[in-house]
Amino acid sequence: MLLSHLLARAGIESVVIEQRSRDYVQARVRAGVLEQGSTDLLRSTGLGERMDADGFVHHGTCLSNGGRAFHLDFTARTGRAVMIYGQTEVQKDLFDAADAAGRTVLDECADVTPHDITGDRPSVTFTRNGQAHTVQADFVAGCDGFHGVCRTLLPRSIVTEYERVYPFGWLGVLSATPPVDDELIYARHDRGFALCSMRNPTLSRYYVQCAADDSAEAWSDQRFWDELRRRIPPDAADRLVTGPSIEKSITPLRSYVAEPMRHGRLLLAGDAAHIVPPTGAKGLNLAFSDVWYLSKALTAHYHDGDDQGLDTYSATALRRVWKAVRFSWWMTTVMHTFHDQGDFNSRIQEAELDYLAGSEAAQTVLAENYVGLPL
Ligand code: DHB
Repeated sequence: MLLSHLLARAGIESVVIEQRSRDYVQARVRAGVLEQGSTDLLRSTGLGERMDADGFVHHGTCLSNGGRAFHLDFTARTGRAVMIYGQTEVQKDLFDAADAAGRTVLDECADVTPHDITGDRPSVTFTRNGQAHTVQADFVAGCDGFHGVCRTLLPRSIVTEYERVYPFGWLGVLSATPPVDDELIYARHDRGFALCSMRNPTLSRYYVQCAADDSAEAWSDQRFWDELRRRIPPDAADRLVTGPSIEKSITPLRSYVAEPMRHGRLLLAGDAAHIVPPTGAKGLNLAFSDVWYLSKALTAHYHDGDDQGLDTYSATALRRVWKAVRFSWWMTTVMHTFHDQGDFNSRIQEAELDYLAGSEAAQTVLAENYVGLPL
């Protein structure tokens, strides 16, 4: 949706072909932290109005280790900040912008299949409302997520996959309660990681580390709140306002990259090419940087006949992707309990967090990555 918006601003026509319904896309709960580069991009392309009115700028975060908390000031360390504004809201803004500009977004498309991606004139076939359709195009952008069809069209002989699956998941709860703090709390605890996040002053998002094979049904609201309280700093636990969960789901944690991100006229972006574990909320931000590079490459192709950006798209995007993969892996590794890795591992984690609490240099490294590396 953002790529289509950026292309339209450059006078380049595109059609969005979406498998899910518009209602589903606009309702699914995703992370809520936008890097400063992402907010700058939204703002500079006419998508910042509601975000600036309803979002919250966060200049820092709280990090907790076994209940002992310290504050990390992003703005003091980097001069930058992040925006708390749910991906769900970004998605609504993108649909509204597409409607206002009369751009085509086809939802509920089934059997979506790209063809002739190594030829000059690729196409995409799909069925919608029981009718078969074909869209012919110059390029196909594969923005169809980790389980999508696009990545599978790259010949196995040219693809290298890199993967780490973590032995735990995140149980997330959305509740119509005031957030426990003005800022996010990332909490390491022997019982497992916990995160206190938010969407707005009356809507909170909380997570606790759970077993990889756990089921959301096994967690009553009471069990969730009790477990969260044990893992966060005691003063936050005392303040915590609980209520019925509006949404409760389990996210598996995985790092994954497939290289390259281009084959012929098929260009992959976002989760279609790479996955990060949620710690640090990089997923949407990485999809944004991919499509930013891609929109610049396609604009140079159409405006100047210059294909250098297309030829280097995969390498350019992957350089940034790998840095975010590294950061998400690092934050996951430091903050979670690895039940199979013993006491040595947990002492290293404690030392890492103690070092972080006392070192401006270490805080600058975390903050620089959290607010987002340059595009
Ligand atoms: C949220 C999710 C994250 O993974 C994170 O690091 C911070 C916030 C969220 O859902 O709000």
